[in-house]
Amino acid sequence: MRELLPVADFPTVRRYARRLARQHPRELAVTVALHVLAAITGLAAPRLIGNLVQAVSRGTTVSTVDKTILAIAAFLLAQTVLTRYARYLSSALGEKVLAELREDFVEQALALPVSTVERAGTGDLLTRTSRDVEQLGWSVRYAVPETIIALVTTVFTIGACMLVGAWVLVPLVLGVPVLYVATRWYLKRAKDGYLRESASYAAINASLAETAEGARTVEALGLDQRRLDVIDADIAESYAAERYTLYLRTVWFPAVEIGYLVPTVVTLLFGGWLYTAGHADLGDVIAATLYVQALIDPVDRLISWLDELQMGAASLARLLGVAAVPDDRMATGREPENERIDAAQVRFAYHDDRDVLHGVDLHVDPGERVAMVGPSGAGKSTLGRLLAGIHPPRAGSVTVGGVGMTELPLGDLRGHVALVTQEHHVFVGTVRENLALAIDDIASDERLGNALSAVDALDWVLALPDGLDTRIGSGGLPLAPAQAQQIALARLVLADPHTLVLDEATSLIDPRSARHLERSLAAVLSGRTVIAIAHRLFTAHDADRVAVVEDGRIAEIGSHDDLIAADGSYAALWQSWHGESEGAPV
Ligand SMILES: Nc1ncnc2c1ncn2[C@@H]1O[C@H](COP(=O)(O)OP(=O)(O)O)[C@@H](O)[C@H]1O
Ligand SMILES: [Mg+2]
Repeated sequence: MRELLPVADFPTVRRYARRLARQHPRELAVTVALHVLAAITGLAAPRLIGNLVQAVSRGTTVSTVDKTILAIAAFLLAQTVLTRYARYLSSALGEKVLAELREDFVEQALALPVSTVERAGTGDLLTRTSRDVEQLGWSVRYAVPETIIALVTTVFTIGACMLVGAWVLVPLVLGVPVLYVATRWYLKRAKDGYLRESASYAAINASLAETAEGARTVEALGLDQRRLDVIDADIAESYAAERYTLYLRTVWFPAVEIGYLVPTVVTLLFGGWLYTAGHADLGDVIAATLYVQALIDPVDRLISWLDELQMGAASLARLLGVAAVPDDRMATGREPENERIDAAQVRFAYHDDRDVLHGVDLHVDPGERVAMVGPSGAGKSTLGRLLAGIHPPRAGSVTVGGVGMTELPLGDLRGHVALVTQEHHVFVGTVRENLALAIDDIASDERLGNALSAVDALDWVLALPDGLDTRIGSGGLPLAPAQAQQIALARLVLADPHTLVLDEATSLIDPRSARHLERSLAAVLSGRTVIAIAHRLFTAHDADRVAVVEDGRIAEIGSHDDLIAADGSYAALWQSWHGESEGAPV
C-alpha cells in the first residue's frame, strides 16, 4: 500500500477560504452589493401585484392599473440589468481566485520533498492536480457565486415577508423542519453513495480496458469465463451503487417538495383566515403568498449547491494537504570540505517497520568509478537515492565532504551530486530548452553539442528537422525511449555535478550502443565520481570497483579482477552473464 499525501483538516480549509475571500475585499463588496440590489428590485413585483389586487377589489381607475404594470416592468428590467453585471463581476472574481489557487498549488507541489513524491507515487499528486483542481474550479466558478446569490435572495425575500406581516413567519417556519431533516439525511449518505458510484464506473472501465488490452492472453489461457465473471461482478456492484443513490433521491426529492408546498399552502390557509377575520388586507395575503413562492427557487438552489460546495471543500482539503507535507531537508549552512562520498551504517525503510537497507558502509573517493550490481529488489536503487540525497537515512549517515546530504539545500546539493534514473522526462519545448534546464545561463551551441556528443546523441539531434531547435515532448516530435534517456544524460553532463549516480541510466539503449555511450561519457566525466547501478556487467568490468548488493547489504566489494579471483557471487554472476549472447565481447 502506498502512503497517500496528507489531506488538510477542516479548520485549515476554512482559514484558507477566508483568506481567499479577504484577498479582494473591494471586488467582493461590489459583487455582493450588486446581488443585493438585484434581489431587492426583484422583490418589488409581488408587493405591487398585491397592492393592485387590493386596489382593484376596492375599485380603481385604468390609469392606476397601467402605472402599476409599468412600474413592475421597470423593476423587472432593472433586476435583469443588475443581475447581468452582478454575475459578470462574480465570474471575473471567481476566475481570479481560481488562478491564484492554481498558482499556490503548483508552488506547493513543486516544493514537495522528493522523498514524499517517491513514497506516495505520482498517481495521488496527478489526481489532485487534475481531478481536484477541476472540481474546485467548478465550485469556485459556479457553486460559490450561485450560493451567494441564493443566500442573498433568500435573506431579502424573508425580509420582504416580514415587511408584509410577522404572521408570514408561521408558514415559513413550518417548512424548515421538513427541509432540514430530509436534506441532512440525504447529505449524510449522498457523498459516500456517489463516491461508491464513481468508483464502480472506474472499476468497470479498468476491467474492460484490461480485458481488451490483454485479449490475446485471455484467449490463449482460456480466461474468458473468468474475465466475464469479473465484469459481471463490476456491473452488479455498479447496479447496486446506482440503486442506492436512486433510493436516496426518491426519498429526498419528494420530501423537499413537501417542504416547499407546506409553507405555500399554510400561507394561503392562514392568510385567508386572517383576511376573513379582518386581521389582514387582501393585498398582504397575495403579496405574502407570492413571496413564499418566490422563496422556493433560491432555497432550492441553495440546497442543491450545498452538495457541490461540500465536494469543492473536499477537493480544497486535498489540495491544501500538499502544503502540509513536512520538509525533510534541514539546511545547516555547513559546506562540504571535499567531494568524498561516505555512507556509514546506513539503514533505511520506506515503511516504518521494514528496513530495506541493513547497515550499508560505502566510501567513494573523488574521481572513483563504482559499479553496483545485484539481484532485483536487493536495494540498489534505494541506496542510489540515498547517495544522491533524495531520502535521508533512517539510521547512520550519508555525507559528501563530511556534510549530511539532507543538510544541503537542494540547489547546492545538485552541484555536488546528481541522479539519473530510468525514469527520464522530456519536457515540452525544443531540444535546446530541454538541455538548458540543467543550467541557469544560456549555453553556446558548442557546449550543448559537446554534451550531446558525450552521450552519442549529437548525430541524431543534428539530423532532426530543426536541429537543436526541434520541438520535442508532448505535442512535438516524439522521441524514442533511448533518445529520451540520452537527453537526460546530456542534461546531467551540462549540469556537471562532481558526483553522478546513474541508476540503470542506459537500460533503454541497446547493449552495443550502450557500451559505446558509457565509454564516451566516461571520457567526458574523467575526474568525476560515478556510481553506476548496472544491469549489464560490462559497466562493472569497466569500473574501478564493483559493489555487489544483496538483500540490503553490500555482500562483496573490490575490483573486477579481485572479485573474479575471490570466486564469490560476482564471479558466478559474471560467468552466467558472459555466457549469454547479450554481452558484447569484453
Ligand atoms: N517507493 C518504494 N516504496 C516502498 N518500497 C519500495 C519502494 N521502492 C523500492 N521498495 C522496496 O525496497 C526494496 C529494494 O528495492 P530497490 O532499491 O528498488 O531494489 P533494486 O534497485 O536493487 O532492484 C524492495 O523490496 C522494494 O520492494
Ligand atoms: Mg532498481
